[in-house]
Amino acid sequence: MALDADTLQQFIDTVRRFVTERCVPIEAKVGEEDRVPDDIVAEMRTLGLFGLSVPEEYGGLGLSMTEEVKVMFELGQTSPAFRSVIGTNIGIGSQGVVMFGSEKQKRDWLPKLASGEVIASFALTEPGAGSDAAALKLQARRDGDHYVINGTKRYITNANRAGMFTLMARTDPGKRGASGISAFIIPAATPGITVGRPERKMGQQGAHICDVVFQDARVPVECRLGEEGEGFKVAMQVLDRGRLHISAVCVGVAERLIREAVNYARTREQFGQPIAEFQLIQAMLADCRTEAYAARCMVLDAAAKRDAGINVTMEASCTKYFASEMVGRVADRAVQIFGGAGYIADYGIERFYRDVRIFRIYEGTSQIQQLVIARNMLKRD
Ligand code: CAA
Repeated sequence: MALDADTLQQFIDTVRRFVTERCVPIEAKVGEEDRVPDDIVAEMRTLGLFGLSVPEEYGGLGLSMTEEVKVMFELGQTSPAFRSVIGTNIGIGSQGVVMFGSEKQKRDWLPKLASGEVIASFALTEPGAGSDAAALKLQARRDGDHYVINGTKRYITNANRAGMFTLMARTDPGKRGASGISAFIIPAATPGITVGRPERKMGQQGAHICDVVFQDARVPVECRLGEEGEGFKVAMQVLDRGRLHISAVCVGVAERLIREAVNYARTREQFGQPIAEFQLIQAMLADCRTEAYAARCMVLDAAAKRDAGINVTMEASCTKYFASEMVGRVADRAVQIFGGAGYIADYGIERFYRDVRIFRIYEGTSQIQQLVIARNMLKRD
């Protein structure tokens, strides 16, 4: 659905206020305590943020991709940990069900995901299957009208809070690669599932990733998403969409850092004048603005194409590649403009510098995006 322009703008204004008044003041605390406070999560529920992309008939706001990325431009303007709370429910955790779920699966899960009552996680990566996702080994063995699941998933976002996993598993051990993989929706309370402790990370404190171990976890056949052997395509289509979402977050973070850098450059004086007067500082600011603007345009263009029903596998990868690299450069320049203060924790810039590093890695590294882009060029042209 597309909201009318006024309603969308009102919603965006509300999210902007939430970010400015509720999230920004506690960024340092979230970083230090490695958790987003419960009252903030509750406010996210009230705002409807968990259900942005869930169709209205299942209790969500049913935003189009274009509308969703515009909201993410705002939510991106604070520590990415806040976005991570809702990120899997509106993105990689829920979209398998939205795109490939049966009516019953949609009715069973989507209203709870939209309200935030249940957190969804996306479980694809394994110790031996990162960039080479089709090498996954976790096995779902058919046993009558059940599957028995054994194996380990790694770096699973929000696993420690998850009520449901969108899980990719090998159902045909005789087939290597993508064709032996199926997708499942697994209740996290299923006996035989153990979630590890959140990993200690370089950045994005407050956003959690954990191992998930399956030992003879038994689920009914009805938990399968789509047909046997279709799971890899489910994962890839979910990621096509997720890569646009992440790109929008990168734009948001970049715009926040540009604002911080401009404000600092205007007030910090050296050699008898604000450093903003120096052309070498201006050049850095101009490069930041140009690249963030380009990324914003790319995100909006790819989102509009997706809303028009066009396959955007290549554009999603172009956008993720450019936006995630762009925000790395912007964060680096922001540290440089802040000088010594950029390196000091109290100013918060170094925290963003660490936070944005993962954007070039998760949901497909820059190198995987390059590979997808080139493959699609060679296929298309
Ligand atoms: N849409 C639909 N189908 C697709 C597709 C897409 N975007 N991409 C591939 N496929 C299909 C192919 O058409 C092919 O089907 P056929 O055999 O019927 O032709 C099948 O899937 C296999 O495709 P490939 O031959 O291209 O597979 P591959 O193994 O050579 O490479 C890859 C695929 C692009 C490298 C893929 O493995 C990939 O994207 N890797 C990165 C994984 C990734 O992004 N992981 C992130 C995990 S989630 C996360 O990070 C978030 C978090 O929680 C931390």
